[in-house]
Amino acid sequence: MHKPDSRCDQPEAATHGSSEPMSQIIDRALQRRSFLQISLSSACAAVMTPWGQSALGSASNGATGLESQFEVSSEGSTDLFQFSNVPTSQSDQVVVPAGYKAEVLFRWGDPVNGQQPVFQSDASNSAAEQALQGGMGHDGMEFFALPNMDANSRGILCINHEYTDQVLLFSDGIEPLPPATMPLEKIRKSQAAHGISVIEVAANEDGQWQVVDSRYCRRITANTPMRMTGPATKLTGDAVLGTLNNCAAGRTPWGTYLTCEENFQGAFGTADRSFAPTPEQQRYGLEAKGYVYKIDGQEISVYRWWEADPRFDLAHPSCDADRFGYVVEIDPLRPDSKPVKRTALGRFRHENAEFTLAKDRRVVVYMGDDQANEFIYKYVSRRPYDATRAAEFGVDATDGLLDQGTLYAAKFDESGRGKWLPLADSQLSPEQVAVYSRIAATRVGATPMDRPEWLAVHPQTGEVFASLTNNSKRTEVNASNPREKNIYGHILRWQEDDLDAGAEEFSWRLFLMAGNPAQAEPTRHGNVSGDAFACPDGLKFDPSGILWIQTDMSSSVMGNADFVELGNNMMLAADPVSGQVRRFLTGPKGCEITGNTMTPDRKTMFINIQHPGEPADEVNDPLQPNQYSQWPDGSEGGRPRSATIVVRRTDGQTIGR
Ligand code: FEO
Ligand code: CA
Ligand code: CA
Ligand code: CA
Repeated sequence: MHKPDSRCDQPEAATHGSSEPMSQIIDRALQRRSFLQISLSSACAAVMTPWGQSALGSASNGATGLESQFEVSSEGSTDLFQFSNVPTSQSDQVVVPAGYKAEVLFRWGDPVNGQQPVFQSDASNSAAEQALQGGMGHDGMEFFALPNMDANSRGILCINHEYTDQVLLFSDGIEPLPPATMPLEKIRKSQAAHGISVIEVAANEDGQWQVVDSRYCRRITANTPMRMTGPATKLTGDAVLGTLNNCAAGRTPWGTYLTCEENFQGAFGTADRSFAPTPEQQRYGLEAKGYVYKIDGQEISVYRWWEADPRFDLAHPSCDADRFGYVVEIDPLRPDSKPVKRTALGRFRHENAEFTLAKDRRVVVYMGDDQANEFIYKYVSRRPYDATRAAEFGVDATDGLLDQGTLYAAKFDESGRGKWLPLADSQLSPEQVAVYSRIAATRVGATPMDRPEWLAVHPQTGEVFASLTNNSKRTEVNASNPREKNIYGHILRWQEDDLDAGAEEFSWRLFLMAGNPAQAEPTRHGNVSGDAFACPDGLKFDPSGILWIQTDMSSSVMGNADFVELGNNMMLAADPVSGQVRRFLTGPKGCEITGNTMTPDRKTMFINIQHPGEPADEVNDPLQPNQYSQWPDGSEGGRPRSATIVVRRTDGQTIGR
């Protein structure tokens, strides 16, 4: 399907830019490779809190200048990974290293209570049934412990469902086509396949995990009542139905789940031919046609929710477009509690919400806006986190740590220094900053990036890593986005001044430039030490300090001349000290690998396989739904299904090392 900005593998470019010849910048980036390593000694000097807050006795570690903060480690770790790499793959299966196994846990259509209603492989389940089953497009995910339970063998998974493949979702695909209108039942089923699944999972004596019936299990969909808090509520009110296009995620130290609304614009549209989007709507990609598939050269709107549900009609006074694009907080252990949209964290195409604490225990959330030439953001709460002041956090808080604070956007200077620019300096009102954060960030002069996806904070050093997945439309390079037509993507890293997440300035470096080593040109070859990959997206540290990278090469490019040697999407482990990268897992045909969470003992890893079987033109065929992939159900299955898998070692030891 052609959805240039409705999902997240190839959104269109916004237009703002900057300077310096690409060749120079790339040369410098490659020469700097030796600076890409924080020294092992300074990394280990940190005394950490459980939330990644660096509590260094000597904050600067004696570092006086930029380079000394990134000093070369000559004896970088050489044995961070205790697994053999897997080769690239074009097979229709999940491949993991020798000594590991991967098992399917929870697919689109599997009941959240582990029992009913059963999935129909011809996609004939009703909207009401879908609302009790796992949604489509599994993405970000977190695992939560249950009270008085061994969290290594039982817990709660919160799983995002990012979008629906409107062909695979229904037995008859996207029928009926316009001018016939979309039946409300189909709209409701599509809405019910969005949102979040909350499931309880447990391991048996053999360590095999399954979904169990639970008082915690629930589906949160596009129609679930939720609250809104923070500055935007002056414009939006404090109530809304539903969350949409839940991409990546985050978690708070008080035990709640953060789910991030990304490509919400695709669900909105209108049949009103007199409609013209405002400049603000244009900046957010809102337009009459909404989410489209390109079929025989023609763009066909496929969500069309607005035809029977006016809150998705851009021309209708009750349109909800300004009520989507936020970070949503969910309490996994209180199934009756309402999710809450925290508008102080801004409105954009949110990727993940990476949580940490400043030295003074103010809450810090790093966030990316996944569109070409959009920005990286940071939220810092006004007050510090104090576990004894329960009214300030959790889903019941209305004026709490995620409601009162400062929203910044990042400026990456050419020199390797950077600044957090407060959006309050944009001259917009606080409510305008919350609803039109992109416009505020442009006004303050943030750096346009190559599609910021996940951000990850190192659990020991507090250093921040950000994946910039690609930006084939970049024409003006800058030091932090040094490639014109950046089809392979790269990963940045930075240290906040004083190693304090609350700082207003930082020092940054390129971590690695992804690429295809079969390509001779240095800008295409990349500079990865170890296994090659392209289009980094999911990025997450495990508690041991391994940086897990998940890729999202779009189906339209996988297999073409620039990408063919890289095979299917994959997951890799990176050592932030040595820069070494090792391929850990490859996915089935046409999928993206995304979502990654572990049990506390690091013996079980949950990973999501999104949209297996997505064809190169991205439009499936309802008559042959499994022609491109039969994963995970095999030839007996009716259609490929997104799914959560469990990865373990066969000897039961910790994953990765
Ligand atoms: Fe949903 Fe930008 O990935
Ligand atoms: Ca992506
Ligand atoms: Ca993503
Ligand atoms: Ca995807």
